Amino acid sequence: MTDTAIDTNRASWDQRTAEHVGSRFYDVAGFLGGKSSLNPLELAQVGAVSGLSMLHLQCHFGLDSLSWARLGAQVTGVDFSPAAIDQARDLAARSGLPAEFICADVLACAERLPQRYDRVYSSYGVLEWLPDIGRWAQVVASALRPGGVFDLVEFHPYSYALDGDPYFHTEQPQRIVERSYTENAAAELPLYVWSHPVSAVINALLDAGLRLLRFNEYPYSPYDCFPNLIEREPGRYYRADGAMDVPMLYSIKAMLPNEKD
Ligand SMILES: C[S@@+](CC[C@H](N)C(=O)[O-])C[C@H]1O[C@@H](n2cnc3c(N)ncnc32)[C@H](O)[C@@H]1O
Repeated sequence: MTDTAIDTNRASWDQRTAEHVGSRFYDVAGFLGGKSSLNPLELAQVGAVSGLSMLHLQCHFGLDSLSWARLGAQVTGVDFSPAAIDQARDLAARSGLPAEFICADVLACAERLPQRYDRVYSSYGVLEWLPDIGRWAQVVASALRPGGVFDLVEFHPYSYALDGDPYFHTEQPQRIVERSYTENAAAELPLYVWSHPVSAVINALLDAGLRLLRFNEYPYSPYDCFPNLIEREPGRYYRADGAMDVPMLYSIKAMLPNEKD
């Protein structure tokens, strides 16, 4: 079942990539003209990257990876969608930015990585595609050099639960059929998702040997990518359906301790 689910997801992400590259949402022309695709939140969380090696897990078609490269990071992006990786390599060539891209399932990419990294980064809509959060955390740990830092910025599963998704993990994925979040999305595509409560994500990273440095929650999304959001401040979209704010994002900063620590 898991292999079928992953194959279905890969095929759907291949098709989504074609839509995304041409969307206003991703604004490839703006990126090629010099704009960064990164948001203030992750720029503040990750900090200066110039001269650092960075592994970007689930990099999609590379806009964020290449935006980190523009800030001076030596970036390697990993994604399981061949269409996304082809586009990422093409964009790297067109923008003249040095970055490597590896086409691999994130849960099976460890042996394909040429080195260990100063930073590992992943963001916005990555964990729900993964059946095994423990294995994911081990990949993160094995990709970091001792003293290296992992940064995650992720949509909060509590917000998904308010829309009817399970909060707690189940071994069987949920099958959904939906259009993508870009304004030009036309195809209704099948996808399989697994929920990972925030506690499970933190505990998986701790079990893999990382030390938690920071955990934050935020009541907004930087993207207008869910139904019924309201932009209360520029670039901050809140749920408009309740009396109180709820967490829409969380972030984790964690470090792989040095051997002597
Ligand atoms: C929502 S996107 C990531 C968002 C990214 N911040 C962006 O907007 O560019 C999720 C990505 O995860 C990738 N993905 C899903 N399951 C994966 C897996 N098992 N291994 C590697 N990549 C996977 C998809 O191909 C897609 O590019």
